[in-house]
Amino acid sequence: MSTTTITSRFELQPYKSLENEELVARIQEARDQLGPKLLILGHHYQQDEVIAQSDFRGDSYLLSQTAADNEECRAIVFCGVHFMAETADILANRPEKLAERDGQRIRVILPDMAAGCSMADMAAIEQIEDAWDQLSEVVDTEDITPVTYINSAATLKAFVGRHGGIVCTSSNARAALDWAFARRGRVMFFPDQHLGRNTALGMNITEEQMPIWDPYADDLGGNTEADLQNSKVILWQGHCSVHQVFQAAHVAMFREKHPGIKILVHPECPREVFELADESGSTGKIIKTVEAAPPGSKWAIGTELHLVNRLKEQHPEQEIHFLSPVLCMCATMYRIDLAHLCWSLENLAGGTPVNTIEVDEETAKWSLVALERMLEVR
Ligand code: 13P
Ligand code: SF4
Repeated sequence: MSTTTITSRFELQPYKSLENEELVARIQEARDQLGPKLLILGHHYQQDEVIAQSDFRGDSYLLSQTAADNEECRAIVFCGVHFMAETADILANRPEKLAERDGQRIRVILPDMAAGCSMADMAAIEQIEDAWDQLSEVVDTEDITPVTYINSAATLKAFVGRHGGIVCTSSNARAALDWAFARRGRVMFFPDQHLGRNTALGMNITEEQMPIWDPYADDLGGNTEADLQNSKVILWQGHCSVHQVFQAAHVAMFREKHPGIKILVHPECPREVFELADESGSTGKIIKTVEAAPPGSKWAIGTELHLVNRLKEQHPEQEIHFLSPVLCMCATMYRIDLAHLCWSLENLAGGTPVNTIEVDEETAKWSLVALERMLEVR
């Protein structure tokens, strides 16, 4: 469980009516005041004006690594979503780092507390524990490695740490599954069924060996005992509503209309789309792939809208399309705007920090076990 402190000196409401120009100037003033003690991290799905304010931008893996390695800063303002800020708090304040700083914590701030992740919300710790108990009646849970996607609450990461498992991101999911299978015969993967399935299919595990666990089913997640006993990977029934919009028909339409086009997708996309794509990877890999492509390359990209639009703008020498006629953005990432950023920075600089994310000690301890494995496995 994470706790938050809200002791606002400046109220949020007035910031919402300010023009961007003024917000940018005031953000700069607060940054100047805080100096190198402040680190602003930005995930690639953030709006352009927010990403422009970040000291460092990245995918989930790189942002975690940056929070873990950083030496100088004493406050991280995380322009991303809740699970990312929790992860930054756990890694930046791990025991050896706290000891190096004589116990001084790095404060991690999420500018808008409503910036969650709908996929992470699809798996609650009580549901995971209940599933594990039910599974123990039909299979040997000592032979299951729990693997949680980083898009999950810290309580799930702690569960995984306690049960000999690992956290993965979209950029090391294959390595994490290899790690898991080197130790035990079965994996339980949550909360994203698509990342789990797409990764395991690449390891010659068949769809039949991947039953889906429905947390709302009456019994055994809607599976038979035999389904679970014959399983290699038990997939949690969770998904990302942003990546779920991409369909095989969209791939076909782009290929027909734009001969030679390449399809580049995030592995949170459904199997049909993932398998039809030419390339796939984390947001960081998507960016690198486009950057490395020769002028004149044509892409239809299946990931969040803000990132695709930014790539379009930054690479006019290439032809870039959003891989769906329906525009779909991550509504929770979008909650972070200049008003929230300015409000949180001015409160921080003024000595009344708001929206601090602090994971409790016990949860942080076990989450760290699983996160350190994630950082070792690439
Ligand atoms: P990346 O780790 O690829 O940046 O993905 C994070 C995410 O939330 C994708 O929806
Ligand atoms: Fe969560 Fe999907 Fe948004 Fe990523 S894009 S933060 S998985 S809701």
